[in-house]
Amino acid sequence: MSIHLLQLVSFRNHDIREFTFIRGLTVIWGENGSGKTAVLEAIHTLSFGKSFRTHKQREMIRGSDELLIIRGDFLSNKHPDTVAIQVNRSSGQKLKLNGNALSGRKELIGRNNVVILSPEEQSITKGAPAERRKFFDKMFSMSSKNYVDTLQQYSRVLKQRNAAILNVKENGQQAENLQSWDEKLIETGYKLWEIRFSFMNSFKTNLKSTVGRYDKEIQFEITYPDKIPSLDTYQTKIKNSQKKDIALGRTTFGPHRDNIALAWNNRDLRNFGSQGEHKLSLVLLKLAELVFVRKNTGTHPTLLLDDLFAKLDLERSKKIVTLLQGLETESGEPVQTIVTTTDLLNVEKSGLLSGEKENNTYHLER
Ligand SMILES: Nc1ncnc2c1ncn2[C@@H]1O[C@H](COP(=O)(O)OP(=O)(O)OP(=O)(O)O)[C@@H](O)[C@H]1O
Ligand SMILES: [Mg+2]
Repeated sequence: MSIHLLQLVSFRNHDIREFTFIRGLTVIWGENGSGKTAVLEAIHTLSFGKSFRTHKQREMIRGSDELLIIRGDFLSNKHPDTVAIQVNRSSGQKLKLNGNALSGRKELIGRNNVVILSPEEQSITKGAPAERRKFFDKMFSMSSKNYVDTLQQYSRVLKQRNAAILNVKENGQQAENLQSWDEKLIETGYKLWEIRFSFMNSFKTNLKSTVGRYDKEIQFEITYPDKIPSLDTYQTKIKNSQKKDIALGRTTFGPHRDNIALAWNNRDLRNFGSQGEHKLSLVLLKLAELVFVRKNTGTHPTLLLDDLFAKLDLERSKKIVTLLQGLETESGEPVQTIVTTTDLLNVEKSGLLSGEKENNTYHLER
């Protein structure tokens, strides 16, 4: 998969701008606030139908302008795609795929995949369990339509059951009314768990080999059970937690509460990791994601590396570059890579420009 053309109108600090990308490496450099992350955010928004840094689409509209437009041309094995997104201050977001209006972003997911690595996503390693669930849900959704559909079904039933719980708690409805929701919840929740466990086990293998290639001395692991709870356990837990659920006004057991933790050299990363360990673990997760998505979709996603070398020393930066180049050689397929930096020298020193890859450079000014 690759993106060839990106056009921006009133997006963040960009007025009207056009970028062309090659199949190889593009380096975007410029000082703080010149709009580097914004370019990657725009590509991500075309790929996934939403930003990775805000859920308020209107925040991306430049200054007091009325609307923003992002347009991109993608090429994959299967189809050339033109994706256009317009966000209007008064009427909200419109999506178009090859000229046809889409009713939601679901149709975009999995078509033109990107893997984004940005300091603004460090909450994946530093934040609460919800941040990690979001990371895994996103990766699995990009890789499987079945996963997106099941996740969406489960979220819908969960919302309905939570509304029914509130009716019992606040409007005096009978608790028996919950039973029909419980059955649906368990049915879709169990299905979601089954797919999530199988993907998680396969991702653990990718992560292990990625980490091993980076440095055999490092242990970086996902703490998540290998086996799904039995259907019996699930049913009993839902039954036994009914009183608690009603008291709290929400469903307290199920896949939406999965605690996925990360361990760096056998210590919990969230609580004990150093800055560099957090950064490095995020890079390794994202490179393993690249391998995972390729394995499941047959093609490499575009790799968006925002400020890749910040917080990493030269030795680690070079090792990451070698790892990335190794992944390409092994698969025999180039990875379209777009890197941003405030300091071109860092990119040169890391060895990223010295590979076989064709490269292209953009300079952004404030
Ligand atoms: N809606 C908006 N309208 C106008 N300007 C905006 C909007 N949103 C963000 N900006 C500004 O756009 C600029 C570019 O932001 P961006 O995060 O892309 O910079 P950057 O080049 O990645 O900087 P850094 O090197 O610090 O990460 C910032 O100055 C930011 O304040
Ligand atoms: Mg930035």
